[in-house]
Amino acid sequence: MRVVVSIGGSVLAPDLDPDRVEAHASVLDGLVADGHEVAAVVGGGSVARRFIGTARNLGATEYDLDAVGIAVTRLNARLLITALERSATPQPAESHEAARASLRRGEVAVMGGTVPGHTTDAVSALLAEMVEADLLVYATSVPGVYSADPEEHDGAQRYDTLTASELVDVISEIETAAGSKAPVDLLATKIIERSGLRAVVLDGTEPRRIAEAVAGDDVAGTEVLPHE
Ligand code: UTP
Repeated sequence: MRVVVSIGGSVLAPDLDPDRVEAHASVLDGLVADGHEVAAVVGGGSVARRFIGTARNLGATEYDLDAVGIAVTRLNARLLITALERSATPQPAESHEAARASLRRGEVAVMGGTVPGHTTDAVSALLAEMVEADLLVYATSVPGVYSADPEEHDGAQRYDTLTASELVDVISEIETAAGSKAPVDLLATKIIERSGLRAVVLDGTEPRRIAEAVAGDDVAGTEVLPHE
């Protein structure tokens, strides 16, 4: 199976703990050992937010703040590459084309952000679209897609399955609600919808869940069903 794994920065390296990075790398190594083609897209997490906060106070434009964020995602990608035992391309792919070329050489492709104006959620969806991935896994800090932000609303319900167009609607409602944080951003959901990607959103703070989802086990999370 060809798999794109999107690993949030807050899931991979919230406190720059090497054991946590190692745990993610070992799951990806295991997928490769099982014969899967693997690409990983890494987010920036709290480290990116801190850098962006400081740059904002220094008067940076939104474009330049995004450039700061991208730089941190690429640093996190380097941490993951360092921990990967198997044939990962030794530097983060800076474009989707470079990531696809890595996969074609039989290497694990690892990348962070690409250009200002979106997040690694969209980068992952675009990569999955481009390489015709069989599965796109979002390893986030929440166990799936909820009807509302579960940290803000006690009654929030997790969806076990959603069609891609239902996902677009749910995320668009969450993003419209002031202060709410969606587990996957709207642009990513639209890419998932237009390409009929099979995706799963799960709690990646336990990296083994990523392997379980690829193996087709019943994992707590939200499965996004491709359109018929
Ligand atoms: P993330 O993908 O980690 O953003 O990229 P996020 O969703 O805000 O982070 P989490 O999920 O809450 O941890 C970090 C930042 O880098 C910039 C954006 O500013 C983003 O917020 N970025 C990232 C880009 O501008 N382009 C990219 O392709 C990726």
